[in-house]
Amino acid sequence: MPLVRLIYASKKTDEWKESEIESLIKTSQERNHRHLVTGCLCFNRKYFMQCLEGSRAQVNLIYNSITRDKRHKEVELLCYQYIDERDFGEWDMYYVPDSRITQELIQRFSGVNDLDPYLMTNAGALSFLKEAVKQTSGSKS
Ligand SMILES: Cc1cc2nc3c(=O)[nH]c(=O)nc-3n(C[C@H](O)[C@H](O)[C@H](O)COP(=O)(O)O)c2cc1C
Repeated sequence: MPLVRLIYASKKTDEWKESEIESLIKTSQERNHRHLVTGCLCFNRKYFMQCLEGSRAQVNLIYNSITRDKRHKEVELLCYQYIDERDFGEWDMYYVPDSRITQELIQRFSGVNDLDPYLMTNAGALSFLKEAVKQTSGSKS
């Protein structure tokens, strides 16, 4: 089964409370683990940006349920591509919270001061996520 990478951007809905992020991450990690899906999620109080990697069928399955989730809106696909290997293979879903996304990193990968994933290209989004995970996790990948 071919391996794919998917990156999307979305906005949190007003009803959803940030304090619920931990249970969202936990459920996501458990479900991704069962489906051999790996990736990472950035959240900056307003926007989400997430990368999912895995077999095409499993990534599509998870992405379909994510798009139906009422906790966020305006889900927009930034990248969908076939890949030879995973970039986030050691993470069921690595979480990069706002406080750990540095200003330096946002400015380096976009033309603005605050993270706005809708303004990113597919390559820019991937480079940003890889660097954010690398800098905050101590991972070598
Ligand atoms: C921003 C965001 C990211 C999510 N990421 C994942 C994820 O990586 N994996 C996952 O299984 N569910 C994720 N979810 C939860 C799914 O949308 C969904 O609630 C859960 O998978 C259960 O799906 P089901 O109701 O179709 O069974 C995410 C939800 C949101 C709002």
